[in-house]
Amino acid sequence: MLNLGVLISGRGSNLRALIDACAQPGFPAKISCVIANNGSAKGLDYAKDASIPAFVIPHKDFASRQAFEEALDATMEKHDVQLVCLAGFMRLLTAWFTERWRDRLVNIHPSLLPAFPGVDVHQKVLDYGAKVTGCTVHFVRAEMDHGPIILQAVVPVLDNDTEEVLAARVLEAEHKAYPSAVRLIAEGCVNVFNERTFIAKTDDGAGIALFSPPLFSDRP
Ligand code: GRF
Repeated sequence: MLNLGVLISGRGSNLRALIDACAQPGFPAKISCVIANNGSAKGLDYAKDASIPAFVIPHKDFASRQAFEEALDATMEKHDVQLVCLAGFMRLLTAWFTERWRDRLVNIHPSLLPAFPGVDVHQKVLDYGAKVTGCTVHFVRAEMDHGPIILQAVVPVLDNDTEEVLAARVLEAEHKAYPSAVRLIAEGCVNVFNERTFIAKTDDGAGIALFSPPLFSDRP
């Protein structure tokens, strides 16, 4: 069983997807603690409903980013966290933290990185006219939305999509992608080499790291 620490700032739907996955028989991870950087994060309710230790550590209470991160770190060490999952955590992390948790710290981002890092992702995808988008689970480095990619899920962008409709389609993919990535890590299938990941999985193959829409095979 891999012990997860989940960091949130808001809605917490990816936290809920991880909680649901961990409740499935045979899932190789469990959530040891949830930390929010603000007390109004709705996702805290999911943790409480599932009887998972949940903490509010307000970043505003600390004089520096690192002092805040030291408090996060101490809470996770106390709960024997082995993998930190960022799930809508809206604080940039310093190199002190990302190096301390190197290759034990993952994030989910709602685009196919390295395209569309940052915020307002879905509107940027629509404005650009991309035909596919999706989500990316990656190990975290100090640079924002950057680090070795573990798994990506692809969804189509349709002509009449609004930002909300597209966000909902991507979010549905996120809720499958994040637990899948955590499972791969917990099973020891994810190796990082030269800042790329390689997925060792003999039964269903490396293709597990990509979810994709069907292609139009009958047209050139
Ligand atoms: C998700 O879209 C995630 O990819 C991004 O922030 C959003 C968090 O949503 N990093 P939720 O709080 O998990 O519902």
